Amino acid sequence: MNNAGALVYVVDDDASAREGVARLIRSAGFMTKTFESGEEFLATLRPNKPSCLVLDVNLPGLNGLDLQEKLAKSRPQVPIIFLTGHGDIPMTVRAVKAGAANFLTKPVDDEALLHAIQHCVDSYVGDGIRSDQNVGNMIGESPALQAILRDIQVVAPTDAAVLIQGETGTGKELVARAIHESSSRRQRSFIMVNCAAIPGTLLESELFGHEKGAFTGAFAQKIGRFEQAHQGTLFLDEIGEIPLELQPKLLRALQQQEFERLGGNRTTHVDVRIVAATNRNLRQMVDEGKFRGDLYYRLHVFPITVPALRERREDIPLLTRFFTQRYARKMNRAIEEIPSTVLEALTRYNWPGNIRELQHLVERSVILSPGRVLQIAVPDAVPDSGSLRWTHPVSKDENPERERILDVLRLSGGIIGGAGGAAARLGLRRTTLQSRMKKLKIARQYQ
Ligand SMILES: Nc1ncnc2c1ncn2[C@@H]1O[C@H](COP(=O)(O)OP(=O)(O)OP(=O)(O)O)[C@@H](O)[C@H]1O
Ligand SMILES: [Mg+2]
Repeated sequence: MNNAGALVYVVDDDASAREGVARLIRSAGFMTKTFESGEEFLATLRPNKPSCLVLDVNLPGLNGLDLQEKLAKSRPQVPIIFLTGHGDIPMTVRAVKAGAANFLTKPVDDEALLHAIQHCVDSYVGDGIRSDQNVGNMIGESPALQAILRDIQVVAPTDAAVLIQGETGTGKELVARAIHESSSRRQRSFIMVNCAAIPGTLLESELFGHEKGAFTGAFAQKIGRFEQAHQGTLFLDEIGEIPLELQPKLLRALQQQEFERLGGNRTTHVDVRIVAATNRNLRQMVDEGKFRGDLYYRLHVFPITVPALRERREDIPLLTRFFTQRYARKMNRAIEEIPSTVLEALTRYNWPGNIRELQHLVERSVILSPGRVLQIAVPDAVPDSGSLRWTHPVSKDENPERERILDVLRLSGGIIGGAGGAAARLGLRRTTLQSRMKKLKIARQYQ
């Protein structure tokens, strides 16, 4: 069984024991994440199901058994390997009775621990990565994705407009749906309009509706998407494609929640929450006069930038497993293994089409893999070209990486470190971002 992509959580209050166990786990090729206490573990968003949890019984505050009890209520169940001291026998008995996968006595024998973990991991592929912690089916453990999941939870309950930016295939639509699903409007409609798919001339009637006879061919009255989304969420996808002439009417609908149907003079009032998405650099479009500044700022109340997959490579093994499970199940294939060399090659590739590209590659590969081992022809690495970042690249003398870092710094209010900071959003270490900023001569002038 291949270990890459398997995830093991460790909860232990003793820093040296915790780090020792984490090092051991990593050396065996597993991914790991550590927590100092049961409280910290419960408070952290964990979008993915781990293969197992290595848990110290004797924790201050919420002890290991309390945590086990709390986790027992959630689905799917996570196998637990308990680490106990010599004096913890009664606790151990309780833990095993409550269904712990295994228990080991401290100081832990390395080989025994790895053996126990391997046992949990072996049942992993068929077991489902999704968990009930998982927001809107978004898979990923990277700090960048975690920051987005937190942003979703923060903004969802408000009625604020959200602007989701990011390259094609990064998951903008999933983010939009997750916002709706986590909001109090979830029982109402989620209405989607792809502004790029509807010719500009028809878009106005699509959004706002029309009265009978409003224009040639308007044989009947039509209810627009704004009205359909009443009390729900309206997702304006590819907002960058909305014609300039239509933008003032859209702005008024956003601001006043009112408009007139085409060919009508009665004002319609609605209660609609707007989520918009674009893979274009809207701010750049504003500077070039291709998008109205007032509309941009109205939409920009709460911006979320979904990072490219190559900026959160640590999510690639997990996503590969997730899609393999999904398609293997769908196509009735018993695929049990993804060679670690394949996962490594996938992790190195640059993914200009982001998660959608990975998803389609895995789908094709599942179809083409006859046996229990997934066979993937990993695409040749393409140079990480800045011009891939935006469909409409910034002007030539501007450095796109510099632009992107500046954008994210603005979004993060100039904060570099921490959960919502620019480094986490870009999927970079704080020190890496700081040295890049130095190289690119970004010296706090972004504020
Ligand atoms: N974190 C994720 N976990 C699992 N699947 C994901 C994740 N992000 C994206 N996907 C999947 O990748 C595909 C592309 O996502 P989505 O359609 O949301 O991208 P997008 O940013 O809207 O792309 P575009 O700009 O091309 O419209 C979808 O099938 C989606 O389910
Ligand atoms: Mg989309």
